[in-house]
Amino acid sequence: MVAKIAVFASGSGSNFQAIAESIERGELTANIGLVITDKPGAFVVTRAEKMGIPVLELAPKTFESKVAYEEKIIEVLQENNIEWVILAGYMRLVGETLLSAYENRIINIHPSLLPSFPGKDAIGQAMAHGVKITGVTVHFVDAGMDTGKIIAQGTVDVVEDDRAATESSIHKLEHELYTNTLQQLFKN
Ligand code: GAR
Repeated sequence: MVAKIAVFASGSGSNFQAIAESIERGELTANIGLVITDKPGAFVVTRAEKMGIPVLELAPKTFESKVAYEEKIIEVLQENNIEWVILAGYMRLVGETLLSAYENRIINIHPSLLPSFPGKDAIGQAMAHGVKITGVTVHFVDAGMDTGKIIAQGTVDVVEDDRAATESSIHKLEHELYTNTLQQLFKN
């Protein structure tokens, strides 16, 4: 069975691209029905269009409430028979509306060894604390900020005073860990 997924992203979309390329290579057994971004014009839109994957750009502020925004998302997900929601740099807390429609079917990747450094700029937080090792976590999404059940983690050595190098190692690991973890999850 091929898992039908939607990828949610707010920014560059390198994780989206890694997932899409892994599917193209036949390694990840999934089908990206659509990409949803809460940031119209984000670079992920360009990446998705280049790969011929439908994108929906939905600015939350154009809805009267978060519930209305998520109800619209659910409507589109259901129209596209989406089974799994894959957050890939989606910088917004998922609300109860979407959580209850996709219980245990929403997955996130975060650039730290959770529970350390949840929230925004996890890499900057880790470097500011002077940790020597950081990493990447793939987890189920719940109502908290990066608090759901952990599925997989990997570690990365921090390159002291070199954010770009540390970030680059984290992204490389993210791309491998996310696709491998999703493959395990979809197989079961
Ligand atoms: C990734 O590092 C992802 O782990 C992080 O945003 C980045 C998106 O990069 N997500 C979070 O911090 C979620 N709390 P990308 O747009 O290139 O995939």
